[in-house]
Amino acid sequence: MTLVANARQEEAWNGEEGRRCADHYQRLDRMAAPANEHLLAAAGIGERDRVLDIGCGTGDTTRIAARHAARGHAVGIDLSAPMLEIA
Ligand SMILES: C[S@@+](CC[C@H](N)C(=O)[O-])C[C@H]1O[C@@H](n2cnc3c(N)ncnc32)[C@H](O)[C@@H]1O
Repeated sequence: MTLVANARQEEAWNGEEGRRCADHYQRLDRMAAPANEHLLAAAGIGERDRVLDIGCGTGDTTRIAARHAARGHAVGIDLSAPMLEIA
């Protein structure tokens, strides 16, 4: 059994919205790259840190975090099946 507090979000991210983001993930990742630099700098992830990326989408931020935490761990979770398929 799956429990989701916000059923509309779950429907959106597993429906048209999630499929559109999955279809265009490379372009979206390129668009987000400048912001992700600031995000990761602010997060200050250390080499041995353990990172949980909630709402990881297609996984770009999780992979970046994993490179920063090269001797630690990075795990991404998401509720969108189309996006997790890409991740
Ligand atoms: C705007 S996307 C951002 C994806 C990714 N973090 C990035 O920066 O490319 C938001 C993500 O949050 C996920 N999301 C929304 N509500 C969630 C929830 N309750 N639990 C897990 N993931 C969720 C969506 O499925 C979607 O992949």
